[in-house]
Amino acid sequence: MTATAPRAARRPRTLHEVKGWFPSLDQVLFDRFLSRQRRLGHRGDLLEMGAYLGKSAIFTAGYLRAGERFTVCDLFDAPAPDERNAAEARKSYATLTRVAFEQNYLAFHDSLPDVVQGPTSLVPRHVAPDSCRFVHVDASHLYEHVAGDIDAARTAMVPTGVVALDDFRSEHTPGVAAATWEAVFLRGLRPVCLSTQKLYGTWGDPEPLQEELLADEEWRAGTHLSVQEIAGHRVLRFSGRPPNPAAPRSRYADEPREADEGGRDGAGRTEAQPGARRPTPDRSAPSARRRRGPVRRLAADVLPPVVTRAIRRRSGGGR
Ligand SMILES: C[S@@+](CC[C@H](N)C(=O)[O-])C[C@H]1O[C@@H](n2cnc3c(N)ncnc32)[C@H](O)[C@@H]1O
Repeated sequence: MTATAPRAARRPRTLHEVKGWFPSLDQVLFDRFLSRQRRLGHRGDLLEMGAYLGKSAIFTAGYLRAGERFTVCDLFDAPAPDERNAAEARKSYATLTRVAFEQNYLAFHDSLPDVVQGPTSLVPRHVAPDSCRFVHVDASHLYEHVAGDIDAARTAMVPTGVVALDDFRSEHTPGVAAATWEAVFLRGLRPVCLSTQKLYGTWGDPEPLQEELLADEEWRAGTHLSVQEIAGHRVLRFSGRPPNPAAPRSRYADEPREADEGGRDGAGRTEAQPGARRPTPDRSAPSARRRRGPVRRLAADVLPPVVTRAIRRRSGGGR
């Protein structure tokens, strides 16, 4: 660690201080699925492909039980398997190191997960078939890689397991969208629900999961729900920014706040700030979705598309 390393990467006092991309809505949904597994006594390992500085990994590890393994695979500071992947890493994760991930992780947990440093194509060598109850796919955004990651998730997963596929519909990640829907239409993945960033699915029966999400209204405070049908699949769609659920406590939680909290890398560039949105490789213009306020988002959710298009045209925001 150098004297100029960002404070948040050294001694995060809360999960919020760990830089990354893991919005409260997904924290709430992870909590729903992982708590349900605990309640029902579903056992199995956990797997994350794409950890960055550990935000979602730290959260997920809070649901690990004795005798279960948590495997985390990331390139960190190792070379990418191909040039397009390397370009993605240079653009979005230039300052990432395995040491920074480990320091963050150990601020919240006593021991590290099983870390596989390298491309996700290594995962099948480290994770046994039919062993995982929850898999988070959040690594490369390139179609070929994501299709392989989804395949690895399917092999790793027990029938009742849940997979979370990140960035399945972001503007800058069409390859993830292609791989995700291909898995739904051709490889038996059954969607359970969608958040703003992730598709949650299972290769088992999605209905009990969906029924529970629908039945219990309390957890949904601060979220909006719509029920959609896609080619015969019922899909629940959640949006909004609910309050963060309880997260693992940092061993530095009681440390006083320092004046220098800058989350900048060595070149003075700002990286993903706590709670920041995912970096977009082509982010010359912020998307209309990002600029929308809560009222416009609500209108987009409840009004028929023809009406929202007309409103957008009138306000000069048409696409
Ligand atoms: C979007 S970040 C993960 C965000 C993280 N889950 C969080 O909660 O903030 C994507 C991560 O995937 C890693 N990655 C990209 N391509 C990869 C590959 N082919 N194999 C393994 N990891 C990869 C990057 O190094 C980066 O840390």
